[in-house]
Amino acid sequence: LASLEVDLSNIALGSTVTVKWRGKPVFIRRRTEQDIKLANTVDISSLRDPQVDADRVKNPEWLVVVGVCTHLGCIPLPNAGDFGGWFCPCHGSHYDISGRIRRGPAPFNLEVPQYSFLDENKLLIG
Ligand code: FES
Repeated sequence: LASLEVDLSNIALGSTVTVKWRGKPVFIRRRTEQDIKLANTVDISSLRDPQVDADRVKNPEWLVVVGVCTHLGCIPLPNAGDFGGWFCPCHGSHYDISGRIRRGPAPFNLEVPQYSFLDENKLLIG
């Protein structure tokens, strides 16, 4: 299946779920107000792969990213690392709550897949 429909209604605020899409993990994070604030209080010019949070989300409450480290392809751990997002244990890359690379060897932010909201509680990835 090229596309994947995900029911968002059971995902608690502040938690991350991992789904499988085209053989890859995709992280879906339901962000709190605090997460969103954190994602927007970053000096963009200091980023390795500069992107504002608004360009990485369709709805600030939901972050959807491919769960594959852009260094050598390990799967980063949620709610870990120094920037409130993910930590890749393979070689120590830290991603923030927008999935942007903040420290460590990874060259790029976590990839945002193509997706859309079918309704308030339904996400279509792909
Ligand atoms: Fe993630 Fe190397 S594969 S830091």
